[in-house]
Amino acid sequence: DRPLRVGVIAGDGIGPELTRAAASVMETALRLHGTGIEFVHEDAGADTFRRTGRALTPGALDRIRGYDALLKGPVGDPAVRHPDGTEAGLLGGLLREGLDTYANVRPIRLLPGIRGATRHEAGEIDHVIVRENTEGLYMSRGRGVRNARAASDQLMMTREGVERVAHAAFALARRRGGAPADGVSRVTCVDKSNVLRSFGFFRDIFDEVAEAYPDVEADHMYADAAGYALVAEPSRFDVLVMENLLGDVLSDVGAGTVGGLGMCPSGNIGDTSAYFEPIHGSAPGIAGSDRANPSSQILAGALLLDHAGHTDAARSVEDAVARVLADGTVTITSSGSPDLGTRATAEAVVGALAAPEEGTGPA
Ligand code: NAD
Ligand code: IPM
Ligand code: MN
Repeated sequence: DRPLRVGVIAGDGIGPELTRAAASVMETALRLHGTGIEFVHEDAGADTFRRTGRALTPGALDRIRGYDALLKGPVGDPAVRHPDGTEAGLLGGLLREGLDTYANVRPIRLLPGIRGATRHEAGEIDHVIVRENTEGLYMSRGRGVRNARAASDQLMMTREGVERVAHAAFALARRRGGAPADGVSRVTCVDKSNVLRSFGFFRDIFDEVAEAYPDVEADHMYADAAGYALVAEPSRFDVLVMENLLGDVLSDVGAGTVGGLGMCPSGNIGDTSAYFEPIHGSAPGIAGSDRANPSSQILAGALLLDHAGHTDAARSVEDAVARVLADGTVTITSSGSPDLGTRATAEAVVGALAAPEEGTGPA
């Protein structure tokens, strides 16, 4: 195989520690499967904005389109702001709209060895939040209005936008094994159609799309009840699809049930581009202290490998992360940090990749 060419945005705060960890794991996994990998650095984020006045360097989108895929660390610095008060170092709008990655795929999985986050057992939480990634309330980014007395942002849903993300959710459900509770393949549409017209539009188009997938159950829940159910009865969920802001918030809620934000990777998927990152931010409070859980970024690397067609290497990374947690090599503390530290956790995952499965080799 020719080597995989992967763009890397190291990011701000804990980003560089995490992308370094993920790169070493990806490199090892691919090598063990007979493929090389080349990483190409892209300067982007809050620190880049501070230095250059832009969060993304000129030509970056075109270069990114040319890589096999992009691994992105978390970016952002709450102190780096536009005059309107919004953060200047973020890339969400630039990359998601720029690359038209309309489906933000956020798997929420409880791995063996994670304790204290929920009363559920490993295997009982295994669902995917598909967050619409290019419209909804976020379409108002940079377009809201504000004066001393009032402020407003406008939410937009388009037929094409809802159709394509609903298709992505149903197609994903077809590739999965169903909800942990009953094994039924199900897509839950999460909205506030009881209150807002735009969400009624979202639900109606979801129902139209559902007709093309008679083998997948179409389900509905209001967003407030879904927030509760994600915590109280997560096993009922298989795939969920929702508007942009709802998906932003509810995916962090889901992270709270599986050992923290540091357990949760994501893929931003479009028809021609994709990039992969943790769901969390740059965690400035723990940056540089070797306390960040690198699992989110390592698992984002696994999603990247899977998307690039290296399915076996991707599975081996996911298995290695699960193994070091299950056998107690690494424990995720109640604060969300790995007791071993960021670097040693990545080394343990690399070791688990290279080590033959215990008990299966000759004595
Ligand atoms: P955050 O996700 O960075 O942190 C929230 C909490 O989770 C903090 O207590 C943090 O220490 C902890 N945490 C996050 N990741 C962790 C990990 N891997 N291991 C252990 N603990 C972890 O959210 P925030 O503090 O609200 O935002 C910080 C910055 O990140 C802001 O600038 C924000 O805009 C930005 N942000 C960026 C992205 C992104 O790049 N995709 C996502 C979310 C937030
Ligand atoms: C996420 C983040 C981003 C979002 C921010 C940093 C722009 O919170 O990816 O979840 O709000 O989408
Ligand atoms: Mn978020």
